[in-house]
Amino acid sequence: MTELQIAIKKLVGHGVIIKTDAYNLLKQASDPVLIAELFLSEYSSKEYLTRDEVELLLKKSKSGVSEKKYRATPVTKSKVPRRRGKVINRVSRKVDGSVESIDDRIDKANSKSTRKEREPQYSIIHTSFEELKGLTNYEPQFSVTRDPDLNSGYKGGIDDLVGYFQDRFTKLERIFRSRMDLQNITKIRDIKRKDSPISVIGMVTEKVVRQGRSRLTIEDPSSDEDLLVLLPRDNQELTERVLRLMDDTVICVEGKMFKGNLIAHDIHLPEIPMLHEKRRADIPVHVAFLSDIHVGSKEFLSKPMDKFIKFLNGKLGGSKMRALGEHTKYVMFGGDVVDGVGIYPGQYNDLELQSIGDQYAEFARFVGQIPEDVQIVVIPGNHDMVRSAEPQPRIEAVHVPDLAAMENVRLLGNPSQVSLHGVEVLLYHCTSMPDIMNHIPGASNNNPVEIMTHMLKARHLAPIWGAKTPIAAEPKDHLVIDSIPDIFHGGHIHINGEGYHRGVQIVNSGTMQSQTSFQKSLNIEPTPGQVTITNLKTFEMNKLDLMRIQS
Ligand SMILES: [Fe+2]
Repeated sequence: MTELQIAIKKLVGHGVIIKTDAYNLLKQASDPVLIAELFLSEYSSKEYLTRDEVELLLKKSKSGVSEKKYRATPVTKSKVPRRRGKVINRVSRKVDGSVESIDDRIDKANSKSTRKEREPQYSIIHTSFEELKGLTNYEPQFSVTRDPDLNSGYKGGIDDLVGYFQDRFTKLERIFRSRMDLQNITKIRDIKRKDSPISVIGMVTEKVVRQGRSRLTIEDPSSDEDLLVLLPRDNQELTERVLRLMDDTVICVEGKMFKGNLIAHDIHLPEIPMLHEKRRADIPVHVAFLSDIHVGSKEFLSKPMDKFIKFLNGKLGGSKMRALGEHTKYVMFGGDVVDGVGIYPGQYNDLELQSIGDQYAEFARFVGQIPEDVQIVVIPGNHDMVRSAEPQPRIEAVHVPDLAAMENVRLLGNPSQVSLHGVEVLLYHCTSMPDIMNHIPGASNNNPVEIMTHMLKARHLAPIWGAKTPIAAEPKDHLVIDSIPDIFHGGHIHINGEGYHRGVQIVNSGTMQSQTSFQKSLNIEPTPGQVTITNLKTFEMNKLDLMRIQS
């Protein structure tokens, strides 16, 4: 291998793209390896090697300034400098006397030192490298489990509203009726005014929590009359749980009737069963979760997005991260892939790309660089070019012709659910998050996992009707979580979070947009560039910090 080839191998090995004019100049350098090493030391965050940089480094290397800075010992022609003062002999002899080649030395240096220095600092990789190395020849196993069918004749009248709530109630009632622990489930119409234990399933229409006796009002489709539920004065724990109940949640109250009111002993949410068992993939194939890319905004961060593309191409970081990238075969985009146009007053001034077509074309340019064997799902968010009322239909191909033409891209509605190697992944943009946050004492933007946990407990993605989240009263309530997912993916608030609730993995993706003036006014600190990558066999959550990982 020539000196020039060694230099190129080092640069490309670190994900650096060499411009043509830089390459031509590098060819003429007497010590191209030295130039490559200096570039990696001085311009570690740069993705491209340009002619200007080669010229500068040639001058520096002649002046000896760089040698003092980067070399601990004088360099002779037989030595290659390494970062942080270490020196590698081009040819050395091992203890057993065998000759070690230049390639061996460079590979060893890259794998043992430089790459290792980079990975642990800015990423958390739990996946076993050994397991990935043995992973070959597998096909994608991808199917769509749920995608809102929105050709159902929705007209938006009062009848639709009644049908919508009836469907919500029926689905959630079914969950309660499948439980073995609830005795004497009784409709409001059939309640006898006698003192025997009953369970009543109803939708919360009002809650009053105060010192002394707190109360709830619930309703069901069997009766025009609401049922008043009184909480025992001495049951503080139950009162605190009621405080966290969201309006329009379907609950089940256990208690006894007394003077026409139900005295509650316990209150249940539909919840995820304790014994819910996760489905797992047979192999450690991975899925990456992203959301809120906001292409087109002046605050859009293209560099972490570029790094993510490199990661999927197996060109980012050291050997472990590269292997992880090569075995990340699914990418989920949880909505707001573009910033949109006319989403809020004065948005025009915040846009780098003022045309929605240009925004989607730019997003498609990124997606087009993802390897074709990676399956990609895109659902819309509140910034995308679909109706804002949930459930949202998929983005129409006419608006995203480039994306629609890619065979590995699936455009789905919000919410949707997909099966990846048997693992069920629920995708929801989480536009309802601020409503839920405002409703539940103590809930905050900084803890999206807690808010998503409330959705799982209520088995509904946007339970509160009439708040800020626009909800279309479709004949079917597509926002009920009737099929339990193994992974629940959300976005919207631009703050990354990971956790579990009763075995369901929760991932809230951050964003690829830096803090906007709107977020600043609300004191929201986004976490851009953080990508969670889940191992579908072990459910280990790896994390890339693309703002800090060197490309
Ligand atoms: Fe967003």
